[in-house]
Amino acid sequence: MSDCIGIFDSGVGGLTAVHAAEKYLPNEHIIYFGDTEHMPYGGRSFDTIEKFASSDFNFLLSFDVKIIIAACGTVSSVVLPHIKNKYPVPIIGVVEPGSAAAVSKTRNGRIGVLATAAAIKSGAYNDAITRKDSSVQVFPMPAPLFVPLVENGRFHKGDRVAKLVAQEYLEPLLKENIDTLVLGCTHYPFLSEIIQSVCGDSVTLVNPAEEAVKTAHDVLKDRGSLSDNCKGNPDFYVSSDIDSFKHIAEIFLGKAYTIRPSLVNIDKY
Ligand code: DGL
Repeated sequence: MSDCIGIFDSGVGGLTAVHAAEKYLPNEHIIYFGDTEHMPYGGRSFDTIEKFASSDFNFLLSFDVKIIIAACGTVSSVVLPHIKNKYPVPIIGVVEPGSAAAVSKTRNGRIGVLATAAAIKSGAYNDAITRKDSSVQVFPMPAPLFVPLVENGRFHKGDRVAKLVAQEYLEPLLKENIDTLVLGCTHYPFLSEIIQSVCGDSVTLVNPAEEAVKTAHDVLKDRGSLSDNCKGNPDFYVSSDIDSFKHIAEIFLGKAYTIRPSLVNIDKY
């Protein structure tokens, strides 16, 4: 199938981009891949993340996609700068768009970044933010427990465990008087309500997957490649755990879409 958009993540995190696409790319058909077999990516080495990312790209390219959104903060931070130009279609990561949004939203120049351990270690958000405005101070914090919480459906507003974990990660950032917080792993916006309740209304949350979708829209528009109307239901693929992906995706997107994931042997790509 040509003329479609590829979106991937290690699991359900990239659904935050699918959700944003409803608004910003309403006429596009989406192929979504969640590499649930290899999730989580966020504690892995460069070589392993690069290998998984390469399979993710190759799988989506088998659909003749016109653009790929790497809706994974880890892949975007760790390997994208090294492999981006290798592919025949534009690749949009979440780091640059998310960082630009954070810089435009901060009023006091103090930005917190929550992301996976690998993404924080790469320094990618820090570099992208300070490249855009060298006067901004960045306060990074790895938040590895958020991914299993989200993958296990523990993201509802009243979830006490998720709230406790959020308090632990956010306390040091709030002490630094941040006014903007980048949810640098695409799983984290599932926890937006909990995170906002811990931060209070004075902190603006940035969802980089949403910003990446806006960037993808602009790139396609510039190239004259926006579709008029080929939307339809997205096609969902995962590399294992169909039922749990379906369950979480239905909670998150179910009103808008029918979720019928297909299984892929991703190691073939
Ligand atoms: N959602 C991903 C990210 O944005 C991956 C999380 C993980 O697999 O550790 O980093």
